[in-house]
Order: sequence, then structure tokens, then C-alpha cells
Amino acid sequence: PVPQVIVVKKKEKESEVDDGKKKVSIFYGTQTGTAEGFAKALVEEAKVRYEKTSFKVIDLDDYAADDDEYEEKLKKESLAFFFLATYGDGEPTDNAANFYKWFTEGDDKGEWLKKLQYGVFGLGNRQYEHFNKIAIVVDDKLTEMGAKRLVPVGLGDDDQCIEDDFTAWKELVWPELDQLLRDEDDTSVTTPYTAAVLEYRVVYHDKPADSYAEDQTHTNGHVVHDAQHPSRSNVAFKKELHTSQSDRSCTHLEFDISHTGLSYETGDHVGVYSENLSEVVDEALKLLGLSPDTYFSVHADKEDGTPIGGASLPPPFPPCTLRDALTRYADVLSSPKKVALLALAAHASDPSEADRLKFLASPAGKDEYAQWIVANQRSLLEVMQSFPSAKPPLGVFFAAVAPRLQPRYYSISSSPKMSPNRIHVTCALVYETTPAGRIHRGLCSTWMKNAVPLTESPDCSQASIFVRTSNFRLPVDPKVPVIMIGPGTGLAPFRGFLQERLALKESGTELGSSIFFFGCRNRKVDFIYEDELNNFVETGALSELIVAFSREGTAKEYVQHKMSQKASDIWKLLSEGAYLYVCGDAKGMAKDVHRTLHTIVQEQGSLDSSKAELYVKNLQMSGRYLRDVW
Ligand code: 2AM
Repeated sequence: PVPQVIVVKKKEKESEVDDGKKKVSIFYGTQTGTAEGFAKALVEEAKVRYEKTSFKVIDLDDYAADDDEYEEKLKKESLAFFFLATYGDGEPTDNAANFYKWFTEGDDKGEWLKKLQYGVFGLGNRQYEHFNKIAIVVDDKLTEMGAKRLVPVGLGDDDQCIEDDFTAWKELVWPELDQLLRDEDDTSVTTPYTAAVLEYRVVYHDKPADSYAEDQTHTNGHVVHDAQHPSRSNVAFKKELHTSQSDRSCTHLEFDISHTGLSYETGDHVGVYSENLSEVVDEALKLLGLSPDTYFSVHADKEDGTPIGGASLPPPFPPCTLRDALTRYADVLSSPKKVALLALAAHASDPSEADRLKFLASPAGKDEYAQWIVANQRSLLEVMQSFPSAKPPLGVFFAAVAPRLQPRYYSISSSPKMSPNRIHVTCALVYETTPAGRIHRGLCSTWMKNAVPLTESPDCSQASIFVRTSNFRLPVDPKVPVIMIGPGTGLAPFRGFLQERLALKESGTELGSSIFFFGCRNRKVDFIYEDELNNFVETGALSELIVAFSREGTAKEYVQHKMSQKASDIWKLLSEGAYLYVCGDAKGMAKDVHRTLHTIVQEQGSLDSSKAELYVKNLQMSGRYLRDVW
């Protein structure tokens, strides 16, 4: 098929586009690229439908440099769509954070958006408490400010099939746009749009003899370090935190950040790019039927320089061998998206395989896709194994079949006050059997477990890493009491907090009281950092350590049970202005802890349920109840 090539002129100035065309702005707040991909997909389809309209896809961070500019520019918009992902504890993506803060905080903004008509599509996951919070809040606020909502907010659910949610929402958008954008004299009937399979232009090279494809994605010494500009760091030290009696594993790992330009604050996150295991790469090579030494580069433009696919291709990676490209850039262990199935179908030589792939990607195959692929957690590799005749060329494979490997984020478990040159990570090994019987080894946790530290070899393991700022911070005034709740690896940021408090204490600062609720299965097995925690208590950095052992007695004991036992202490500390922090699993633990907190406030404060809810909400709004959950 001939790709539908739509050229989006990048960085068009207002004056350049003032050509009498109607204009639509499509904004996105994206973390892993899905929201950006949807924004671009909407535009590609819209351009075919409304040829006389000009569409612009805009990264929210690139839109304006400050609050005034946001206001000034937004005032001029008349038709806009927002694709907004929600992360973690109901947070915006990094590139939407400034916009979101300005848009939602501060004074009442009045009704100055009366000219604007808009639609919002959210990307979230129903398993989490604040499902699509960012999209919902922005959608409400836009209406509140006088803008006209064209379609109900789309609530994309990544737990099911977010592509289907997007397709369903688009079907609501077109009739509205038909009314607004279709010229009266335009009698053209809408032809059904089928997205073409995207494809890079591939150039094959002779493999350079003298350089073995050094990974150029890191940018040590760059002025800023972010997901696009990570820094290559050595693994300085590593140890297993569980005892030999454990059937699981938890790794403590330290990245050396001296000479990298990286710095961090207590409570920040580290993003880690890791690589596919060689057995995974071997399997992918076998399925693609290509030589691992194929040395190639991918290009998002044609030979004449025109961009391919309306700039919706992921950015190309540096030239390298196929083995290296599969190792570093291809996510082959996640379940394939429907667009990937269509790309495979387009390159399946067996017609029955192509038909079945197309069926799985079609509306009629929705249930089967949900069952056979999503519920069974079938990876892209497993799917390709089931369709052996599908052999996409490299340009298609890297553009449309395998998404780019994404960094994994960890709460940093050290404080720069103790370890200015090291970033510590506390990482539980992901090792599980999927419903389809595949053993799933977590990409980054397996890499960390197998990493070779500098203490073992001068030729130690390295990873491209970067720091992501968080709002998980100790109170500015060290005398303010803190309550910390973090079972399992939820302990990580609190180890950083306690290191910071210890450093403050050693420098003579007076500390407020602190209590830490930790939970693990059994003290002989997974009581991680036990000696350090006891030392924090002995030195006074921590006033009280309370541990719930869930598998020692006959009944399960969890952190929230321990909290209930300490209800009056917690209430007293809160009344004194304490900050309360929760870190760890969002789906189970953080929800249960939240409920327990509500009960404690209700009972100890003799409040009715709605007053207790208001109390907890106020804690949250005033930044005294902070959660770092995943
Ligand atoms: P379990 O594995 O025995 O169920 C760290 O993972 C600790 O958190 C473990 O002791 C684990 O107990 C416990 N845990 C599991 N689910 C939890 C929940 N919903 N709330 C609090 N702790 C939980």
C-alpha cells in the first residue's frame, strides 16, 4: 500500500499560516508517546477529511514559555483538541505539567475562553484511583471558563484497549467537525479512512570495521538531562537485599553519577533505559529472518527530504547492527497494539494468517483481541510466533510493529546529602508466569539483578539514566513531624528521607518526630535494610519504626493494620501539622491505606464521613498528604 503521506510543516509561524484556512490546534501531554501518537493520528485522518483546514500538533511544553504566554495564545484559539495522559497519583505528564499548573491553580480565571470550541481525550488506566484525572479536570475547567465542549471527554483505558476507546471517541468527533469544517459547497462524501502502515526509509551500510556501534543515545555533559538526553552511568555497587531463604529477589544498585552532569534531590525518580536480554533478541532475529549483523539506519524522511507519515514516526535511532537495534530500541515483550497487527498482516505471505491478524485488529475481533492478546499478556514475540509468515521489513518493524523501548522509573532510595555522587535504586525482580504460560522476566529488574558492578569488574555494566523531578519532598521545616508508609520497595524514597534527616541531625539540626510503617512478608526473608533502619532509630533520625510482617503469623498483617493500632498517635501528629507520605503499590496498598486514613480521621477526630473526607482532601490540597505510587 502507498503510505498516506501528510506533511506537517514544523514550526510554522502564525503569519505563515494566515492563509484564510480554518485552523485547528491539537495539543498533547505525553510520557511514553501514546498521547502524541493519537494526536498525530487524529490529524492525519482529519487532513484527509477536511482538506481546506490547517491542523497543528503541539507539544504543550513547546506552546508557551510562561503563564502569560499560555493565556495570550490560548485566547486566540478557536478550535482545539487536547490529548492528556494521567500518571501515577493523578499527575500530568512532564510536558503538560507547566500548562496544567497554570491552568488549574491560582485565581479564578473567568470566562475568557468563549471563542474556543474543544474536545479532550484522556489516557489513563482504570486500575488506578485517579483514572484520567488530568483530562477530566482540564475538560471541566475549559467549560467553566466559557469554552464550548464539542464531544464528551474521552476516557481512554490502558487496562483494556485504549486504541478502541480512541476509535470510539473519534466517531463522536467527526460529525461535529463535519459541521464546523466542511464547506457548504463541498459535496464530497466522506470515504472511509484507513490508516496506512507507516514505514521508515532504510539505508543499509557496510558495517564500520573500527567502531562497534557505540550507543549514541546518551549525552553525558549535556546541559539538561531528561528522557531524550540521558547520561551513561556506571553501576558502582550492587547487592541482593533478600536473604538466601527467599524465593524472590530485590536488588540494591548504585549508579555512579560523578562526571555525568546529573544531580538529584531526595524524593526524585531515576529513569533507566535498559536492554533486551540476548535470548529475547535471538528470538526476534529468528522471527524476522534477518542477519544480526545487518548494519542499517532508519530515516523519517524520503530521499528528497520530505517527511514520511506526517511526522508521526518515532524519532530515528543512530545507525547500528540489527542485533543492537533490537537490543536497545525494540519493545518486543509488551502486547502488540492493533496498528502493529495490521502492519504484520500487510507483510504476511500466508493469506489466512493475514486475515486472522486483520480480524484481531478489527471491531468484530474486539473480544478476541481482549482475550487472546490482552488477558493472556501475549507479547509481540509470542504473536509473531503464531504468525510465522508475517515477516515485516526493518523499516516497518521499527516504525509500526515494535514500539520504542521506554525507560523504567524508580524512586531514588538515597539522599544527595549522604551520596552526592551516587543514585541508589531498590528494585524488586519481576519474574512471573503469564496466563498463556510464558515466563515473563521484567526487562529492567532482570538487567539490574544481573548487572556487573565496578566492585567486581573494571568492565562494569552501564545504563543510560536521567533524573525526573518529583513533588515527593520532606517538609521544608525539619521540625514538622512526618508519617511515612511504605511496604516492600515502597521503602525506597523513605530511605532517602531518613538519610537526609540523619545528615541534618549530624549537622546539629533539630528534627520533628517521625514514624515509619514498613511491611514485608517475613523478618528472616525480606526485611530489607533492617540494620540501616534500626540505625536510623538509634541515631534519632527516625523516632519510631513499625513493621507489619504479613506471613509470620496465621493472619495477614499489613501496614494499614498497624496504622489502625496507632490511630491516636497518627491523629496527634496530624493535628500538629505532620506530613503524611505513602509509597508503593497503587492498586492495592495505597487504596487500603487511604481508606484506613479516612477511618482514623473520622474516629479520632469524631467527624462524620463527609467531614473526614474533607479533612483528608485538605491534607492533599495543602501538600501534606503526598503519594508516590505505581
Ligand atoms: P503479602 O505478599 O503477604 O500479601 C510488601 O510487598 C508487603 O506488602 C508484603 O508483606 C505484602 O504482603 C504486603 N501487601 C500486599 N498487599 C497489600 C495491601 N493491599 N496493603 C498493604 N500491604 C500489602
